Amino acid sequence: MKNVFLFALMLSFLFYGCTNQSQKTEQNQLSEADMQLLETANRYFSLLPEPNDPNTPLTLLGKKLYYEESLSANGQISCNTCHPISTYGVDNLPTSPGHDGSVGTRNSPTTFNAYFHVAQFWDGRSPDLADQAKGPVLNPIEMGLQSATDVEAILKNSPEYSKMFKEAFPDEENPVTFDNFAIAIAEFEGTLATPAAFDAFLEGAVNELDTEQKEGLSLFIETGCIACHIGPGLGGNMMQRFGLVHGPYWDFTGSELKDRGVGDITGKDSDLDIFKSPSLRNIEMTAPYFHDGSIESLEEAIRIMAFTQLGKELNEDQINKMVAFFRSLTGKIPEHAL
Ligand code: HEC
Ligand code: HEC
Repeated sequence: MKNVFLFALMLSFLFYGCTNQSQKTEQNQLSEADMQLLETANRYFSLLPEPNDPNTPLTLLGKKLYYEESLSANGQISCNTCHPISTYGVDNLPTSPGHDGSVGTRNSPTTFNAYFHVAQFWDGRSPDLADQAKGPVLNPIEMGLQSATDVEAILKNSPEYSKMFKEAFPDEENPVTFDNFAIAIAEFEGTLATPAAFDAFLEGAVNELDTEQKEGLSLFIETGCIACHIGPGLGGNMMQRFGLVHGPYWDFTGSELKDRGVGDITGKDSDLDIFKSPSLRNIEMTAPYFHDGSIESLEEAIRIMAFTQLGKELNEDQINKMVAFFRSLTGKIPEHAL
């Protein structure tokens, strides 16, 4: 990746050398600002890690399981119910109804680009996707099955699944297990990458971002959002306090439930209101925002973030530019997953 960037830099010097005097000044000015932004951006952000091959027996099994409704108490809920692939891995509801219609307390985060997160869930309580995938099926208000044995029994009943598990785990005598179910789903989720205009920009195609988006990117960096939203996902890689500078967060989100994040698990004061700093990939498509879906508009979410996390007040123009920049983070829905 670094090499690609250097190559782009060399190319732009080359072109610079070939232009005549009047073009020279103009292009020089343009490209110098662009090059600086490109260099700064590459310091904080990076391309999405290589996704899994979607056409292996393992990832194809994972895809089928992701859509499998028979693994729920009412036979109607799958991973895709709350994380629909066709709408960027989210249901766009504040919180999601499960198998008996009752809702949880947290917003369904997207399954897209989750494969490289430091941990899963808003409070990071699960270390990886395979561990995470075991949760929803047995969660009483999500899919509501009783036990791992129930899951295995349903799958073993199907000749098609027996065959697919055998192909996905060729070395195992009894491949239809709850563990392998979770591994297959996780491997499928590892295919859900959505490279976007911003990745092309990072590789040197500076015109993939228009002027407003470049200004938004500069603002995002200069305002200090990069303290918590960096790396390939612009987030997803650290745990941080919501309400770091101005809190408590519910004074700004209007949340009725005082979810204390990691603090609710550990009971430690120092963990209160600590949540995973979420990835901002496809953020314009994944409303409503925050761990409880309390904020509908992206503009408002940005305004709250600047104030609660950094003690800064952004004006409308600055917020609009950041929203414009965020649009460059929207990739294509991976066709193979539909
Ligand atoms: C009834 C709705 C519902 C169903 C069904 C459901 N999920 Fe979720 N999912 C959620 C909610 C809500 C959260 C956030 C919970 C939390 O953070 O405490 C979540 C979190 C996740 C995360 C963590 C993402 C991140 O950025 O932290 C992944 C991955 C995920 N679900 C995958 C799955 C898979 C795979 C299935 C099927 C086996 C599934 N979900 C079924 C609602 C659902
Ligand atoms: C000190 C760390 C920190 C800083 C700085 C920060 N954020 Fe956040 N951001 C978070 C955390 C933590 C959350 C999740 C809060 C929650 O829902 O509980 C979050 C959530 C968000 C969300 C909602 C994401 C979603 O999927 O619901 C957006 C949008 C966002 N941040 C944008 C920004 C912008 C823009 C800036 C700069 C003005 C910024 N953040 C600065 C830590 C930070």
